[in-house]
Amino acid sequence: MSRRPIIAGNWKMNMTRAQAEELITALKPLVKDAKAEVAICVPYTDIDVAVRLCAGSNIKVGAENVAWAEKGAFTGEISADMLLELGTEYVIIGHSERRQYFGETDASVNARLKTALAKGLKPIVCVGETLEERETDKTADVIKKQITGAFDGISADDAAKVVVAYEPVWAIGTGRTATSAQAQETIAGIRAEIAALYGAAIADGMRIQYGGSMNAKNVKELMAQPDIDGGLIGGASLKAADFSLVVNYDA
Ligand code: PGA
Repeated sequence: MSRRPIIAGNWKMNMTRAQAEELITALKPLVKDAKAEVAICVPYTDIDVAVRLCAGSNIKVGAENVAWAEKGAFTGEISADMLLELGTEYVIIGHSERRQYFGETDASVNARLKTALAKGLKPIVCVGETLEERETDKTADVIKKQITGAFDGISADDAAKVVVAYEPVWAIGTGRTATSAQAQETIAGIRAEIAALYGAAIADGMRIQYGGSMNAKNVKELMAQPDIDGGLIGGASLKAADFSLVVNYDA
C-alpha cells in the first residue's frame, strides 16, 4: 500500500497576518513541485489570509484546533462551521501543547475528532509520550491509551480519513529529535494499534507523521523509515526557505 506523504507546518502562536502573507508568498514558488502533500496549520486569525493566498496552489490550509460543540456558550472556542466557512481543510487535534497547557484530555480529543469528522474537516490527531514516560518504559502504554481514547466510537470509514502525528513531547521545540529508529518503532506500534482496532487495510492506508524538531537536516533519514509518512513541523515551518527544504526532502 503506498501512502502519499504529508508534510504539514504547525505555526502555533506565531505569525501576524502581515507576517503570514509574507511567508506564504515566499513559500508558494518554493514548494510548487513537491511530491508530498503540503499543508500549513495556522492561527485562526491567519486562516482567511492563508486560504486566499494558497488558492490555486498545492498548499492546503489547516487550523490548530476545533471545538467539539457545534455552537453556543463556549467562550474562546472556534467551531467547525466557522473554520469551514473560511475554507479550512485540515485541523490539528490533541497537540501536546493543548494537552499540557490547556487541559486537553483523551476524552476531549475524542469529542473534537468526532465533530471534525462529522463536519468534514480532515483531522491530524497528535499523540506522544513525555520524557519521563519514555525513560520509565511507558511509551507503548501511553500511546496505546491515547490512540484508543482518541478513536473511541469512531467508525472504520471515519478512521480512514484521519492523519496521526506521533510527537514525543521531549522532542518538540527542543532541538532534540527522536532517532529515526525510535520514531519508526513507535509509529509502527501506532499502526499495529490501528490494525487491532480497525484491521490491516485501514492501518496500512493510514498516514502517520513524525513531529518534534524535524528539519532540513533530519527529514531525509526520518522519511526513509517504512512507517513514517510525513512530518508535523513547528519551528522549521516559520521560515519559507527552511520549510521548503523539509517539504522537498526527496527533490
Ligand atoms: P517543532 O514542533 O518542530 O518545533 O519541534 C513540532 C510540533 O509541535 O508540531
